[in-house]
Amino acid sequence: KEITKSSAGKKSLVEKLRSQNNENQLVFFYGSQTGTAEDLATRLGTECTKKYSLPVLVCDPEEYDMMELVEWIENEGTESTLFGFFMATYGEGEPTDNTVDFYEWIMAGSGKGDDEGEEEIDDDELLESGSLRGLPYVAFGLGNKTYEHYNAIGKRLDQRLAKLGGVRVGELGLGDDDDSMEEDFLAWKTAVLVDIAKHFGLQVTASGAQRDAPHVPLFDLVNVAEDNALERIYYGEHSNKTPRRWQMLKNGTLDQEDDPKYVETEKTTYDSKHPHYGRILKSRPLFVDVHDEYGFDSNLLLPKAGHKRYQVSDCKVRIERHCLHVDLDLGDSGLKYVTGDHVGVWPVNDEEHVQRLAQALNISHGVLDSVVQLNPNKKNMSAANAKMPFPAPCTVRTALVNYLDVSSTIKQHQLEILAKYADDPAERTALFELSENRERYVTLIEKSRKDLADILEAFPSIAVPIVVVIGELLPRIAVRYYSISSSSVEEPTKVGITAVMVRYAIPSCHPAHRADDKKNDSVVIREGLATSWLQRLHEQRTESASRTNGAAAAPFSQEDEALPIPRFHLPMYIRTSNFKLPKNPRLPVVMVGPGTGVAPFRAFVRERFHLAKTRPEMQVGPTWLFYGCRHPDKDFLYRDEFEQMEKEVADGSVKLDLRILKAYSRVEGQKKQYVQHMVQQHAEDVWNMIGKQKGSFYVCGDAKHMAHDVHETLTALALDHGNLGTEERAKTWVKDLKSQSRYLEDVWA
Ligand code: FAD
Ligand code: 2AM
Repeated sequence: KEITKSSAGKKSLVEKLRSQNNENQLVFFYGSQTGTAEDLATRLGTECTKKYSLPVLVCDPEEYDMMELVEWIENEGTESTLFGFFMATYGEGEPTDNTVDFYEWIMAGSGKGDDEGEEEIDDDELLESGSLRGLPYVAFGLGNKTYEHYNAIGKRLDQRLAKLGGVRVGELGLGDDDDSMEEDFLAWKTAVLVDIAKHFGLQVTASGAQRDAPHVPLFDLVNVAEDNALERIYYGEHSNKTPRRWQMLKNGTLDQEDDPKYVETEKTTYDSKHPHYGRILKSRPLFVDVHDEYGFDSNLLLPKAGHKRYQVSDCKVRIERHCLHVDLDLGDSGLKYVTGDHVGVWPVNDEEHVQRLAQALNISHGVLDSVVQLNPNKKNMSAANAKMPFPAPCTVRTALVNYLDVSSTIKQHQLEILAKYADDPAERTALFELSENRERYVTLIEKSRKDLADILEAFPSIAVPIVVVIGELLPRIAVRYYSISSSSVEEPTKVGITAVMVRYAIPSCHPAHRADDKKNDSVVIREGLATSWLQRLHEQRTESASRTNGAAAAPFSQEDEALPIPRFHLPMYIRTSNFKLPKNPRLPVVMVGPGTGVAPFRAFVRERFHLAKTRPEMQVGPTWLFYGCRHPDKDFLYRDEFEQMEKEVADGSVKLDLRILKAYSRVEGQKKQYVQHMVQQHAEDVWNMIGKQKGSFYVCGDAKHMAHDVHETLTALALDHGNLGTEERAKTWVKDLKSQSRYLEDVWA
């Protein structure tokens, strides 16, 4: 049944819940930026359905009129429906994009919401204490302890729901992504499953794998007759805009002359659900650094009782580190950004990896290229409300290349599914053991980041149907964010990305063997999904350009352009951020950004330099960048650009107090220098600019160590130079700086 849209253009929550016609039901809302909260909500829901036959609806709060929660409680009472909130905290204690509206509404009037949001809420829509009286709910927050506002959204929402009369069932779960989100979730889930059963007066069922029960797939796979579906087929697009173009091409109604670029034909606003396809205008290597790395992160080496301790020398491997600058075209898409914003991109998998998986799955090219779609399997109770994991119809290959993350590490509940499809009893037992024994799983699977292809190769008797693989085993590819490294003032129609390739070595334990087995002694090199894809695109462009005699501006052919998704076009959207230059350009700006943390500062520096050069009357204030890298000749990002600007300042052609202060950490014969050491060395100047002249202090890059160390340094500096007397007062000064938005962080874990 089609659900009516409310005035806000959202689906009616009440109608949807009534249409379910369930005696008892679960309704789980997720606030997800990269898909984890959605995944956890779905997993708990599926387990409740399996164990207690409780139907579950997993909803994106952005799609529903959440204000109808009040109506639901008033009219339907609190007996039949248990709600769930799986809420991630993003950035500096912010809700995820898809929960902004809901969060603003529910927090309005609480004094803890966003002031701007509060103003937008109509008076009659303001919630009073007791508006949600009796609303039963479970809640799990997803956060990261590295960040200052750990799980702020989950905690605040829980408090607010209680204030409004909600009654939490079980404990508030809090997951820490810095340590183990999965473990926190599993511990919470075990307890909350019991609480949910008690809430509905159901019998508690033992947890653990039900080894004998066969797996009932969530979906049926339907082969779509190719001719019928051509105009509807998805070729890797993330929204429904581009198939239309394909249809026009097929019908001959789209003329290449009329549509030389990738012009969207329907919706013209782009967001996280409707990406724009930005063409790569330029990609250039910023550095390639070859070095020996000590095998893997030493955390991975911590020996558990009886396990072999890896020798660092055994595992020394040669790793090539690449860093790229990529410029994406916004063209006439209407997309705008402001210096300091982020760009989100959806990577695609390496086709070789997909080929390896196809081989391990024993599927032919015929199957890979068949056009399919998924239909809910009536035999699975969770199927009725199950969300399609990717746009369909599409080929199996497209699903595996463009939509599903084939390199994601296999989780324990997925091993349980795989175990059920293993023919060999020994393999079956080993897989069940891995799915039940956390320590064994962490050692043999998680730490060596085993993906589906690895598992299938290690346990060749697994014969898992392709519909299970694409319908429920593989997660969707998550968006990756990059701090935009171009200035919107200087280059309003292009977006710069500065990406360092993720490449690391890990022990390659064979999952079917013991961790202390001799066979574990080798090391494999893994690569990040998005960064290796950017690197591949760069290499393909370079190759293409060399074929067209170096015509680097257009290293693609008409043929490339006529593809449903033209080559070298990336699905992308702009995510706005609070990381902004002061409105008054005369105010000083102090930036601290080692490594790729320099990305937004390349933009800041270029913008201030550009203004100083083209509009000297603006009197741009001091612009100081503390930049750190390993070695000036190896990994100094944008050295040429910074040196050029320094030169123009030095010869007087541009009037600007521009300082690029460098800290090198790996120069032979020299003491390791970090950015915070340089800040310390220039403490008096920094105090003058921030403490006295009311400038702004910015930090970008590693959240775990660097941002924390810089914070400490600034506190110490304030104590020494600010006449503040006590450490407590210095801390308060730094806190105030943050609340005035003059100490801004753009950090990632
Ligand atoms: P993935 O496939 O996601 O792999 C990364 C994962 O690999 C890690 O989570 C970890 O599980 C594993 N891993 C990595 N190293 C090791 C190791 N040594 N040992 C064991 N496991 C390991 N990145 C930039 O380069 N430039 C930017 O400007 C930038 N800006 C960002 C801004 C924001 C707001 C955020 C949230 C992130 C930003 N990032 C930036 C990070 C970026 O989004 C990606 O996370 C990064 O590029 C890696 O993506 P990937 O797909 O290549 O790696
Ligand atoms: P490293 O040689 O010790 O890795 C970019 O990654 C730069 O940041 C490198 O020079 C790196 O030094 C440095 N770095 C590492 N940890 C840091 C920290 N806690 N604070 C500041 N810089 C750090």
